[in-house]
Amino acid sequence: MSAAFTGTIQGARDFLGPHRTAGRTIGFVPTMGALHAGHRRLIETARAQSDVVAVSIFVNPLQFDRAADFERYARQIPADLAVCEDAGADLVFAPSAAEMYPGQAQTFVEVIGLTDHFCGASRPGHFRGVTTVVAKLFGIIGPTLAFFGEKDAQQLAIVKRMTRDLNFPITMVPVPTVREPDGLALSSRNVRLTAEERRVAPCLYRALTRAHDLIQSGAVDCDEVIQAAAFELDRPGVRVEYFAFADPETFEPVAGPIAPNSEKPLLALGAIWLGETRLIDNRLCRFRKLPSSA
Ligand code: PAF
Repeated sequence: MSAAFTGTIQGARDFLGPHRTAGRTIGFVPTMGALHAGHRRLIETARAQSDVVAVSIFVNPLQFDRAADFERYARQIPADLAVCEDAGADLVFAPSAAEMYPGQAQTFVEVIGLTDHFCGASRPGHFRGVTTVVAKLFGIIGPTLAFFGEKDAQQLAIVKRMTRDLNFPITMVPVPTVREPDGLALSSRNVRLTAEERRVAPCLYRALTRAHDLIQSGAVDCDEVIQAAAFELDRPGVRVEYFAFADPETFEPVAGPIAPNSEKPLLALGAIWLGETRLIDNRLCRFRKLPSSA
């Protein structure tokens, strides 16, 4: 099936307007391109749940905290278009920076609190760039459903919160992380890893899995779990930016003893550097229910 392609906001509106008027649901997958099997899963999920599927491809300069990362970000529109078409997209919207940011913008969207820690702390301005562009894309596409990957768990929580706070009539649909057979989460940045870095990279998933398994087997102290699991990250060439537990709703760090029979899951999350490449990943950890002592 062939997808319509446009680089203009008007083109996207002209394509989607009649579908909206006809009462069709619009599923939206925002991306920065360099599409891989994780994006394909997002588009296929959108295809299964919506009447019309729109994908955006835009390397958003506002969310890059390092100029070199922005410059190096892969741009491969023909290959991305093929993935979009194959996965069932109806519209691909790939605007230029001038189309999205014509002149000096004076409006930005910022979620506070949820952005205080983890990626928010280590990448100043990053989430402000994400929420600003996603709010603009929501305004352009006007989706019924928006599909976001769980690998970027903090981004997902922040965009959900923005959607709620700004009353966007959009249902957020989280989509599970797609992994390589050795556990490495798919990311557009994986292609930058050297052969040796790629060999080491699954240590992040192994550390998260260790934290997950310790929690499931009844561990009672977050700090001890993190210390034990972080052992997996202790490898030459790995620089740990953060590795911790967070509350999956507030993204506040969680440390110390775990309340007995706690019902609330914890999110184990980490960011590591391998050379010039930064990788993030997470795993939700649910507690094992202990038999009551009565
Ligand atoms: O996750 C991404 O690819 C980006 O942060 C997004 C949501 C497309 C905004 O630029």
